[in-house]
Amino acid sequence: MMDWTDRHCRYLHRRMSLRTLLYTEMVTAPALVRGGATHLLDRDPSEHPVALQLGGSDPGELAAAARLGAEAGYDEINLNCGCPSDRVQSGAFGAILMTRAALVAECVAAMIAAQPRQVTVKCRIGVDDQDPRSVLPDFLGRLVKAGVKRVQIHARMAWLQGLSPKENRDVPPLDYALVHEMKRAFPSLHISLNGGIGSLEMAEAALAEGLDGVMIGRAAYQTPSSILLSADRRIYGETGSERSAEDVARDMLPYIEAHLAAGGKLAQVTRHMLGLFAGRPGARAWRRILSEGAHRADAGPELVERALAALEVDGQPAVSPAA
Ligand SMILES: Cc1cc2nc3c(=O)[nH]c(=O)nc-3n(C[C@H](O)[C@H](O)[C@H](O)COP(=O)(O)O)c2cc1C
Repeated sequence: MMDWTDRHCRYLHRRMSLRTLLYTEMVTAPALVRGGATHLLDRDPSEHPVALQLGGSDPGELAAAARLGAEAGYDEINLNCGCPSDRVQSGAFGAILMTRAALVAECVAAMIAAQPRQVTVKCRIGVDDQDPRSVLPDFLGRLVKAGVKRVQIHARMAWLQGLSPKENRDVPPLDYALVHEMKRAFPSLHISLNGGIGSLEMAEAALAEGLDGVMIGRAAYQTPSSILLSADRRIYGETGSERSAEDVARDMLPYIEAHLAAGGKLAQVTRHMLGLFAGRPGARAWRRILSEGAHRADAGPELVERALAALEVDGQPAVSPAA
């Protein structure tokens, strides 16, 4: 997610779950290939498994960008066919590609041929006045023919005229039934459901109903503890002990120190940690201390220690290990 799932966010989330697949922000193929912005591929070695999401619509450029992603060690290369922002429409990236299925098939075929990693596609169910019940099967069918084995479907239309990108994540209604229909129509295609999944219970229900995966966006970012801390056990059947949000906050201290020593700023890391204690006692104090203090020039890891101490209520730790 742009501006959210940068390398610091992914490092944090990997401390919370070892098994979930993490995604980068969308990186445009032109920026990588023409702009030489390969720093956009920087990541921590511990982020695996991690997918690089690319934006673009030129097969040759996407192939070159996919190759760079594979060389940089990403486990999966994902093509964005879902993002509705104006900038992205003008560059013919993102959701507008739902209207250009033949071109998308050409793009993914080129990406697959160019490098060894799996190529996946994140899409909508359609855009504007398209009929999703005819467009989506045609789109997926072409992807399958081009060699795609996994897709993530944001289960709502994108209305490119008149809605902001933010409204396009909430206003067009969700159609989970159509995604389930697609699973029945393409049984060997690995289909992940995306859109409006706010809890692991909802994720478990989608999996129990036959989908192969679930992609969680805003909830995983805004309330990461409720999604990520028990995902390895509940979704992947791991039996190891779970970490608490407090453990995770402490895990971040050496990372923060290294980031500051390399010239980085505290807020670049702590902004992703604001939701760690969401819904728990002391969460507001945690958020306030981090958001008010992290921009000060002398702010360092001790700010996180201070915010952790503020979670203590009446001398008792207010944060208990996740059940
Ligand atoms: C701040 C923000 C940035 C996003 N950036 C991207 C992006 O770069 N690529 C993408 O495929 N989707 C992006 N999305 C959309 C999400 O991946 C997801 O499809 C959408 O939020 C619906 O899922 P959710 O209800 O679980 O959040 C973004 C969403 C948000 C809130």
